[in-house]
Amino acid sequence: MTKTFLFLLPFLFTISQTFPATGAEPGFLQSVKRNPMKLRTEKLSHFRFYWHDIISGPNPTAVNIVQPPTNNKTTPTGFGMINMIDDPLTEKPEVGSKLLGRAQGFYGLASQEEVGLLMAMNFVFSTGKYNGSTLTILGRNPVFHKVREMPVIGGSGLFRFARGYVQASTHSFDLKTGDAVVEYNVHVMHY
Ligand SMILES: *[C@@H]1O[C@H](CO)[C@@H](O)[C@H](O)[C@H]1NC(C)=O
Ligand SMILES: *[C@@H]1O[C@H](CO)[C@@H](O)[C@H](O)[C@H]1NC(C)=O
Repeated sequence: MTKTFLFLLPFLFTISQTFPATGAEPGFLQSVKRNPMKLRTEKLSHFRFYWHDIISGPNPTAVNIVQPPTNNKTTPTGFGMINMIDDPLTEKPEVGSKLLGRAQGFYGLASQEEVGLLMAMNFVFSTGKYNGSTLTILGRNPVFHKVREMPVIGGSGLFRFARGYVQASTHSFDLKTGDAVVEYNVHVMHY
């Protein structure tokens, strides 16, 4: 049985070559390695850290770069304002606790109904094996809601192909200065 099959093999091969109507033209189809990038199995990681948005004092980490045009109707929610940030990410709520990385990017006040931010930022990690790896967050942040969820839309370094979400909840907010400490819980799938 096996012998017969082996004997027929060259014959079958010839048929497929002489009838290109099957669509398999030479050079049209190539086999590729299953895992050319040697990716390991995808895993889910959970990170928790604190994001410090410091507006007051001599060393602010958030600066206003765009002011909305003066308009009585839109000022209550700050609609149209944009801040650029380079905010420290720390292990504990205290700003002096271990620095894990920074959140670099900007947020704009993008809602006329409530204080709702459009956030576009990269988490740049600076510790351990994640040193230099980044996660990119792009999402909506209605800051007075208890928990705000935003997508992780990608990453670099150890976070290549990353996807996931963050949940942000305010730890403290100083109404006078605008300084905020926000707890970030990050769930991310990566390799
Ligand atoms: C509305 O805007 C005008 C001019 O921009 C300003 O003079 C006035 O004080 C504003 N009113 C309020 C209530 O903010
Ligand atoms: C992180 O990487 C930078 C250079 O890429 C290096 O200077 C720094 O010492 C590293 N930090 C840690 C904690 O490994």
